[in-house]
Amino acid sequence: MPGQKVFIFDTTLRDGEQVPGCKLNTTEKIEIALALEALGVDIIEAGFPISSPGDFQSVNEIGKVIKNAVVCGLSRAVQKDIEVAAEALQSAKRRRIHTGIGTSDFHIKSKFNSTREEILERAAQAVKWARNFTDDVEFYAEDAGRTDNEYLARVVEAVIAAGATTVNIPDTTGYCLPHQYGEKIAFLVNNVPNIDKAVLSCHCHNDLGLATANSIAGVISGARQIECTINGLGERAGNTSLEEVVMVIKQHASTLGFYTDINSKQLNPLSRLVSDTMRMPVQPNKAIVGANAFSHSSGIHQDGFLKDAQTYEIINPEEVGADGSKIVLTARSGRSALAHRFQKLGFQFNRNDVDVLYEQFLKVADRKKEVGDEDLQELATQYQGKAIVA
Ligand code: KIV
Ligand code: ZN
Repeated sequence: MPGQKVFIFDTTLRDGEQVPGCKLNTTEKIEIALALEALGVDIIEAGFPISSPGDFQSVNEIGKVIKNAVVCGLSRAVQKDIEVAAEALQSAKRRRIHTGIGTSDFHIKSKFNSTREEILERAAQAVKWARNFTDDVEFYAEDAGRTDNEYLARVVEAVIAAGATTVNIPDTTGYCLPHQYGEKIAFLVNNVPNIDKAVLSCHCHNDLGLATANSIAGVISGARQIECTINGLGERAGNTSLEEVVMVIKQHASTLGFYTDINSKQLNPLSRLVSDTMRMPVQPNKAIVGANAFSHSSGIHQDGFLKDAQTYEIINPEEVGADGSKIVLTARSGRSALAHRFQKLGFQFNRNDVDVLYEQFLKVADRKKEVGDEDLQELATQYQGKAIVA
């Protein structure tokens, strides 16, 4: 395996499930957690145990069935939250408590009516409480994306000294540009004296559509964990999409020098499971898992694709468990795609036949969004009938 490993921390069942309408019951959560483990994620954030009895139960039950992945529970930097998270995780073979507090001035002043010094102390204290229950403690500096870097470095140093083994740098509001987020991670790598004692984690939201780019910028600058969700589900515009970061890392393995333990063939099946269970459709043009991710509809693209798939596809659909490439016949399609489809349907037409049939095809295509095989069967049969009569 080339290069360095990037840990995949999946938060579909926590940040993803916060989306209105995506609420899951314990049975559904267990099914998804088992599928996430089969996919190869390193950490499953199973829920926020203090938030409701149902979430407590889900985290608890997931902890009982997961064998290899670390099971993680979220908490605020509040003693009771941490105790409840620890209790929910008690049966997990490998457990992580994820605790934290807002560190931007927006959070410190507006949310907590507090000061930087007080928040720094609360952060370190929360990590110490969590360390009473497990050696695997992750700290999140909420709104780190808009937190002053000098202050953030002091917080990160303090929580590592208190025992945090992973430090999460969330761009909670999806505000950062990729170079800014990358520079933030690089600043921490270069300015926190004890940074070698913890893994830095990227947790990016997608408010400006930059979550994937920001996460990749983060690992290029030294982070070694990405927090993400299946189908990019999550608060507002969503979280970093798991399938996107995994495939960026895979496609650019030789340039970036990273790998993950994800079995990419499971990406499409798991995307469908999550979409069906959460009743949240995937947009057709979604990278990797959208219905159109491997569809070709314009004549120029179809012609190139039929000559060599690599002209218009950078990923083999099989590699991500998709059904396969599709040639969609529309009014923008060309003769070569039409001839190819007739051939697949068992009709042997020469160039002149296809020229005539193409005119008929365009008339149908102008009426319909997509021309299906049954339309083509009809066109071919009519054409053959006329040819025989003539
Ligand atoms: O976006 C965020 O800051 C979070 C934290 C709770 C980790 O989800
Ligand atoms: Zn989040």
